[in-house]
Amino acid sequence: MITRIEPINEQSLRYAKEIILSGGVVAMPTETVYGLGGSAFNDEAVKKIFEIKGRPNDNPLIAHVHPEYDITEIIDYDPPYAADLRKAFLPGPLTLVYPSTGKVSPRVSCGLNTLAVRVPSHKGAQAFLRAVNIPVVAPSANLSRHVSPTSARHVYDDFNGKIPLILDGGECTGGIESTVADVTGEYPVILRPGLITREMIESVCGRCDVYAPELKPGDRAKSPGMMYKHYSPRCITYLFDENGGEAARQTARREAAQGRRVYFLCERSVAKALCAEGENVLDLGTSETEMAANLFALLRKAETVADVLIAIEPKKKDGVMAGVLNRLRKACASKDIPH
Ligand code: TXA
Ligand code: MG
Repeated sequence: MITRIEPINEQSLRYAKEIILSGGVVAMPTETVYGLGGSAFNDEAVKKIFEIKGRPNDNPLIAHVHPEYDITEIIDYDPPYAADLRKAFLPGPLTLVYPSTGKVSPRVSCGLNTLAVRVPSHKGAQAFLRAVNIPVVAPSANLSRHVSPTSARHVYDDFNGKIPLILDGGECTGGIESTVADVTGEYPVILRPGLITREMIESVCGRCDVYAPELKPGDRAKSPGMMYKHYSPRCITYLFDENGGEAARQTARREAAQGRRVYFLCERSVAKALCAEGENVLDLGTSETEMAANLFALLRKAETVADVLIAIEPKKKDGVMAGVLNRLRKACASKDIPH
């Protein structure tokens, strides 16, 4: 199969619609990361998405809709505080998990009676979703456990020959996946941290918890995708906390002595303090949103330039950084860890 990368225009949208309505799969940009989209109503399309990604079949998908789509078609109960959240943050990088009407393919939620729904703010994503005018399920468009894609090129690198079309909407400005919040209870519970922070949700709803499971082997997580090692660059990775500079340098010396190409990944102030002029540094930047936007692209870059990636945790841990740290820790995890 030839994989075409097309800018988003009338012609490519017509082609995308044709593919989606006949049960095929199209990669689309969003403001967070690229997604691998298919019709939520089509069992075969949903099955295909799991197969192409190599995704475990206990990890449910998010249904994406355009801002005018009537979500009562697919969700069964809508607590008043969810409407407040939609008003405050949507369209945007917040996914809400509702009780499902069961109208989408049962494969979407992997047997759960809930459905995750997201309204992206990316103009190209909205044009695509309006063109098809049905909910499009779209996991991040990366091979399962690989780093999420923030450009059309990243998607191509993982799926060349496997999908017919990548809609190219430029580089994603958000950079980490949407915040996932469960709204089936009395107040929202964050299942996956992201750019819409706990503090932001609390400011609207008064209360917002973060699901932090103490999982034992065999337990099923509420957001099953959070169980796995994720976002992994294909190189050796080490992660040190913000006080681990000296240990990081020792590791770098030891690895370099083995003839390996060593790169540091850290925020700019840490790089300035720790690394010599001209040393290999992948610079996360300075602000929270900049670090979120840069993280995945740098992890993908690492696998092309480095044998060993030595990451140092940014100092700030809350707000948007909760999401950045969650991804960074999983990228550098040595085995499956529940988070
Ligand atoms: O920003 C994003 O959310 C991107 C773009 C493409 O929209 N999509 C994305 O999808 O990150 P994915 O499949 O990589 O991650 C979906 C997350 C997983 O952690 C999954 O477990 C959780 O959402 N999820 C989906 N449906 C759920 C449900 N019914 N209940 C609980 N968690 C759910
Ligand atoms: Mg993903």
